[in-house]
Amino acid sequence: MTATPLPGSPQLHYRGDALFLEEVALADLARRYGTPLFVYSRAAMLSALAAYQRGFAGRKARIHYALKANSSLAVLQVFARAGCGFDIVSGGELERALAAGAKGPDIIFSGVGKTRREMRRALEVGIRCFNVESEPELEVLSAVATELGVRAPVSLRVNPDVDPKTHPYISTGLKGNKFGIAHQDAQRAYRHAAALPGLRVVGIDCHIGSQITQVAPYLDALDRVLDLVDAIEQAGIPLAHIDFGGGLGIVYHGEEPPAADALWQQLLARLDARGYGGRELLIEPGRSLVGNAGVCLTEVLYLKPGEQKNFCIVDAAMNDLPRPAMYEAYHQIVPLRPQAGPAATYDVVGPVCESGDWIGRDRALAARPGDWLAVLSAGAYCMSMASNYNTRGRAAEVLVNGAEVHLIREREDFADQVRREKLLP
Ligand code: LLP
Repeated sequence: MTATPLPGSPQLHYRGDALFLEEVALADLARRYGTPLFVYSRAAMLSALAAYQRGFAGRKARIHYALKANSSLAVLQVFARAGCGFDIVSGGELERALAAGAKGPDIIFSGVGKTRREMRRALEVGIRCFNVESEPELEVLSAVATELGVRAPVSLRVNPDVDPKTHPYISTGLKGNKFGIAHQDAQRAYRHAAALPGLRVVGIDCHIGSQITQVAPYLDALDRVLDLVDAIEQAGIPLAHIDFGGGLGIVYHGEEPPAADALWQQLLARLDARGYGGRELLIEPGRSLVGNAGVCLTEVLYLKPGEQKNFCIVDAAMNDLPRPAMYEAYHQIVPLRPQAGPAATYDVVGPVCESGDWIGRDRALAARPGDWLAVLSAGAYCMSMASNYNTRGRAAEVLVNGAEVHLIREREDFADQVRREKLLP
């Protein structure tokens, strides 16, 4: 029995000496479906969502799940059925949201590089709002909408220049980022938008970064955005909604992010104090809805003692779990059953031919070949960022609901991977 506290959701727990997610022993899933295998808890997703819903009780607010965090169709269905809208960043994500049951008005479209084709399709299905990130994009969107004989609903993503105190690759609201319209240019951009024939200004939007674990950057960003709302509305351009993006962090390794309801209690108090408490609010959370709801199961292949390091080589790799390689991210790694014998310190690495292919460094494990491990907090930005590098098929995915087990994605095979390729004559 391990004493290691498991991060995140209570749905993940040891029962006797076996690791369970909800009512399902994870070892049974590894045996039945093979590894690497992602497993998600529906209850954990819904309880993460419930924290936001409590926070917004009695308010005019809509939660648009940022599906880049985990875009598997069954995961989207869980959120669609629970009343969420979606925040998309590509035509592919638009089709995923529709396939999962969303309608156009449930969808908002973010991202710095929307193509004309993506804009057209989004207008045809009648999405709720485009979060526009530059003045050139305003011009193109107006032209595309005019061709279709409609007016595109727009909100400008403004860059509040606030440091979210997170990893530089996932902070987006600073001056040096490619995202958003600079705070000092925002009023001009709004006048520009209001003057274009194919647009209808409906809101304002900001998103300052991801894996944010403090409240202060959010409060600072909110003040900066509300200053702009004051100025833009004084210039005669009403803003029906305020979209405050996503970004709330989860527990990977001892972080203590505020709970979603506690965060929103503070933000709503600030909105009330500044007279915006009745304004329609949108948010775009991704990671905080799914991150702690998922694990990735992997099998130990080999133990390789080294001169400087011991390696524990597992069958999951950077193509399945890209966050350590990309951001030096920490994911806790625990055994599915407690291991007998003394622990040694290992770097847990995958089979991919890159030194960057590591999943955890300096971890104490008493693992043996054939044992299964669970990589925790793997519900967000793992499967959705997975690749086929080294011609590795992407993992299978399972969603558990109480004692029910649903295979929601089959393991990718070789034929799946080469389906679009052509041999030379
Ligand atoms: N809205 C916009 C406009 C975004 O760019 C993002 C995330 C979100 C919402 C959702 O943010 P969240 O609530 O998930 O923090 N791959 C990185 C994270 C990249 C986040 C990109 N934008 C990672 O694995 O840490």
